[in-house]
Amino acid sequence: MAEHIIAIDQGTTSTRAIIFDRSGSVVSTGQLEHEQIFPRAGWVEHDPAEIWLNTREVIGQALSKADLTRHDIAAVGITNQRETAVVWDRRTGKPVYNAIVWQDTRTQDIVDRLAADGGADRYKDRVGLPLATYFSGTKIVWILENVEGARERAEAGDLLFGTTDTWVLWNLTGGKKGGVHATDVTNASRTLLMDLRTLDWDDEILADFGIPRAMLPDIRSSSEVYGTANPRSLLREAPIAGILGDQQAATFGQAAFDQGEAKNTYGTGNFVIVNTGEDIVYSENGLLTTVGYKLGDGPAHYALEGSIAVTGSLVQWLRDNLGLISSAPEIETLATSVDDNGGAYFVPAFSGLFAPYWRPDARGTIVGLTRYVNKGHIARAAIESIAYQSRDVLEAVNADVDVPLTDLKVDGGASANDLLMQFQADILDVTVIRPVVAETTALGAAYAAGLAVGFWQNLDELRANWQEDRRWEPTIAPEERERLYADWKRAIEKSLGWVG
Ligand code: G3P
Repeated sequence: MAEHIIAIDQGTTSTRAIIFDRSGSVVSTGQLEHEQIFPRAGWVEHDPAEIWLNTREVIGQALSKADLTRHDIAAVGITNQRETAVVWDRRTGKPVYNAIVWQDTRTQDIVDRLAADGGADRYKDRVGLPLATYFSGTKIVWILENVEGARERAEAGDLLFGTTDTWVLWNLTGGKKGGVHATDVTNASRTLLMDLRTLDWDDEILADFGIPRAMLPDIRSSSEVYGTANPRSLLREAPIAGILGDQQAATFGQAAFDQGEAKNTYGTGNFVIVNTGEDIVYSENGLLTTVGYKLGDGPAHYALEGSIAVTGSLVQWLRDNLGLISSAPEIETLATSVDDNGGAYFVPAFSGLFAPYWRPDARGTIVGLTRYVNKGHIARAAIESIAYQSRDVLEAVNADVDVPLTDLKVDGGASANDLLMQFQADILDVTVIRPVVAETTALGAAYAAGLAVGFWQNLDELRANWQEDRRWEPTIAPEERERLYADWKRAIEKSLGWVG
């Protein structure tokens, strides 16, 4: 009997395949990084062909490491970097342009053009989002307006759009020979094009954006059989049965199924998600309203989200652009070589500032430098910026929801960083809790797939899998916490208004 589920996590910097057993434990992992393409300042692209090649490769890695075959796999789940837009030709399977990544800010002019009539929040009551470069919609417009012939081909029905879940699903299910062109409600809720109530594309918004409906995927639930893997592939005929955008997947993997439950994922960026149950809650403090999950024919569950663009990618930048460290985990060693930040604050507003500020005019800045500051302090300021940005978002959450959060479940790569986790508890004044399985993103997609095929029966079974690994309690004095945070807010002020 098939005793495993495989999850494909198509992330911003790498693609992974992770095989889980019934207890939700990781059995094996395959992982490959892909190239980050920066053609100009503010532009970020990926090569979709490389991503698809890597996807196939990591599936093979994960299976062979665990000595498993297709027969051991009950279902396949997909999770993905959200918003990143791919447009390809349905007959050749070839992308017409590189994937435009969620961090890319090239569409600010398109955003301004659309906001000129009704402001940045003109669609917020329908889609839960402000007009911003972050979301897929304006990236599709850019491709239609800037790639030669794209608009005509899209109108003729020759081009398909997808976020990377859709790109992977279409290719896994046969590509140009009948691939399934679908996405799930969580990914669709990040495009600016889906109505949160009807869970369908909004024709009026499509008309405003000039996007032909024919290029958009079907919107399906997060847990159902979308199709089966290409018979000639390693996963031949395995049901693909779960899709969740990576942050919603992490929330699901943390078993935060109920209203009021929350998580913070430390990845390329940080994303705080608070489950608001079947209620659509609109933020007055810069959070996004998004779909949390929808299981088959069940109701949609919604969430509030605080998205922070640059956290883990700041550590990569220190490694790749400055050579300050040679591997990401080294940041912790360097940061612990000093006792504090030495007065330095680092605001990594590389893509402007996302939640709760939504300021495209902000840019990265380091303030408080003196001759005393050394690279240890800079490393520390970088780590602290992750915690401070999370506090900015948690302040917004507490202002929007009735019951303030008293503890926070964490996951993702940098949740392994003990210095960061202690500082996070200190600066938030809440208990920070890390589960045993920190791979909650892939786990969430595996759960969605497993539920659809009856591998797991219900949410209680999944809740029982969740286990605490470690918790951090706040230790610093309240005055010290507020003094540090006030300095951070001053640093934020310095980063605003740099562009334009
Ligand atoms: O919204 C962007 C987010 O989905 C990307 O997540 O983990 O790939 O940085 P990650």
